[in-house]
Amino acid sequence: MRQILLKLSRAIFHWPPLPASVQEKQSLIVRFGCQRGLKNFIETGTFQGDMVEAQRGNFHKLVTIELGDTLYEAAKRRFAAHAHVQVLHGDSGTLLPEAIRLTEGPALYWLDAHYSRGITVRGDQEAPILKELSIIAAQGQPGDAILIDDARLFGLRLGYPRLATVHKFAAREWPAHSFRVESDVICILPP
Ligand SMILES: C[S@@+](CC[C@H](N)C(=O)[O-])C[C@H]1O[C@@H](n2cnc3c(N)ncnc32)[C@H](O)[C@@H]1O
Repeated sequence: MRQILLKLSRAIFHWPPLPASVQEKQSLIVRFGCQRGLKNFIETGTFQGDMVEAQRGNFHKLVTIELGDTLYEAAKRRFAAHAHVQVLHGDSGTLLPEAIRLTEGPALYWLDAHYSRGITVRGDQEAPILKELSIIAAQGQPGDAILIDDARLFGLRLGYPRLATVHKFAAREWPAHSFRVESDVICILPP
């Protein structure tokens, strides 16, 4: 029944979008990050480090934050040979200020910290997105570009704010930035 309703909603309202492929996510990061001159990549939710691996050659500095102990240890080992990659261990809501301090200039943010079953872990919130956005608004740079994965879950899954709430927040904090959803990714982009 749920699947039928989702199909109907997609056909009529073009919402919610289907999950983006890994390639679509990677190319959005390239398009709105390094192709627009951003040199820093900050990720919340490292998981196994595949996005960092894919973007390693595209940015001068990459900082990624993972809450899970085992996932953090594995990512730390994976990137040990790459001095421009830094893996931080803890909650993104606590460690984002440190990630910002470790980079110089504006960054492409890939906000993807959330519990997603399996070996992933859950912090004190299912998806700490509003906390993360508040930190970026207070401590980030005017030229930051922010990409948030899994737009389809906003307002539908417990613990995710409504998309309108994120839009309102972005319009208040980054009035000159554009706001749109592309391939299931919320994009808040500098002019
Ligand atoms: C969907 S996965 C990330 C995938 C990864 N960004 C990629 O593109 O390959 C989400 C990750 O966020 C982690 N996580 C959950 N809550 C977190 C939090 N509050 N702070 C940091 N990481 C968190 C989970 O353990 C999981 O590894």
